[in-house]
Amino acid sequence: MAQKNALDSIISLAKRRGFVFQSSEIYGGLNGCWDYGPLGVELLRNVKDAWWKSMTFRDDIEGVDAAILMHPRTWEASGHVGQFTDPMIDNKTSKARHRADNLIEDYITRLRNKNKNLEADEIERRLGEVESPEDYYTIIMDAGIPDPVSGTTDWTEVRNFNLMFKTFIGPVEDTSAVVYLRPETAQGIFVNFKNVVDSSRQKIPFGIAQIGKAFRNEINTKNFLFRTREFEQMEMQYFVAPGTEAQQFEQWREIRLNWFFGLGMKPDSLRLKPHDKLAHYANAAVDIEYQFPFGWGEIEGIHSRTDFDLQRHQEYSGKKMEYVDASTNERYVPYVIETSAGASRSFMAFLCNAFSEETVTDEKGGSETRTVLRFSPRLAPVKAAVFPLVNREGMPELGEKLYKELQQNFAVQFDDKGAVGRRYRRQDEIGTPYCITVDGQSLEDGTVTVRERDSMQQQRIAISNVRHYLLDALM
Ligand code: GAP
Repeated sequence: MAQKNALDSIISLAKRRGFVFQSSEIYGGLNGCWDYGPLGVELLRNVKDAWWKSMTFRDDIEGVDAAILMHPRTWEASGHVGQFTDPMIDNKTSKARHRADNLIEDYITRLRNKNKNLEADEIERRLGEVESPEDYYTIIMDAGIPDPVSGTTDWTEVRNFNLMFKTFIGPVEDTSAVVYLRPETAQGIFVNFKNVVDSSRQKIPFGIAQIGKAFRNEINTKNFLFRTREFEQMEMQYFVAPGTEAQQFEQWREIRLNWFFGLGMKPDSLRLKPHDKLAHYANAAVDIEYQFPFGWGEIEGIHSRTDFDLQRHQEYSGKKMEYVDASTNERYVPYVIETSAGASRSFMAFLCNAFSEETVTDEKGGSETRTVLRFSPRLAPVKAAVFPLVNREGMPELGEKLYKELQQNFAVQFDDKGAVGRRYRRQDEIGTPYCITVDGQSLEDGTVTVRERDSMQQQRIAISNVRHYLLDALM
């Protein structure tokens, strides 16, 4: 199947089976925003739970849940007010607005497709040296890059466009009341660093973890959940003594990569991509990229951020951000290793990773396509389904009793509609790892069949063992 078609099939399955819907769909949708449906919300919750446990079940990590609205000085200190921008250019003829860097990159790709490599190399070199919006403008005009919509080079200047959403706090809508929807959760951790040190018994090195919504007024929202305007992040800042950050960075890079593998990511679907250009405050940075149907894309960034953030908050707030090592009496502003994953992007990566279409033999000996979401059992939104084979002879009652029992521990479904083969397919399509069928033999000897999603193998076990069987299998 062509890769692009794979994404279309995943999006269509996600909608059909209630994983993800377009936001405000009945009004025509809202660009860059998505709603999680009944199964999507469970999958997302399972992704976040797996992350939360992997962080806070350690002795050295505490959790917080900071407010989305923060004091506006936070974003001056963090650099977001001044620098969290995309360079935008408008075409006066078509009125189309583009990100200047994307416009240039697309042009370079077109040149390479036409084997004009020398010209492409030169533009790429200049792109690597850009320092201001004017530099983008000069490249576009020198190369005569046309607007893909109108074909003209009738461009405005390049202007920086801030990606933070603004709103007002209180009843007066003036500049003194401006606040921002947070564009990342990390700052809620930095501003609480001292509070956590003072209220917990943590000693450096230790971390603070947070999961929450973040908002960015992205210009080009694209590829389903990949780049959206409202999304969730799972971020952890690990505070370390200066000089130990390189070793901690390596350690966290491995921990985070293995977290994805531990939840079923295929070995060749992930790669580590070091940043070509480091931000001025970072001394190391690497992205974990997933191979989406549209190409490689970042799902998490791991950054060695030095003491930049805490120093800035110290400067802007006037409050000391120092840590005192009680054993040596040494005072310092800690360095930080950040692990910053998108919950929404990880959700999409896990969905793509699980999606498979295979040809199998149907009940009449012909062939059919089996669509399966091969989720790790820990992530699967529904853990098991119970089917009475037929709707008579006490099978529905026995099935219902088992279903109610299992519901105490697991997300389970009960399905008594249609041929059992169809019911298996319905569960395969949403990734349910186990289907339990109550049949004639169940009434005689108290056993049921348990069918495993990936192998489609069935085994017979005692009804009284089903709960334990699932507890073991779903670990
Ligand atoms: N505190 C660092 C930080 O926010 P980032 O690379 O801008 O770093 C971290 O974002 C992660 O957040 C990304 O790896 C991605 O998974 C997710 N993310 C960022 N922007 C996003 C967007 N517009 N839509 C969906 N996820 C996004």
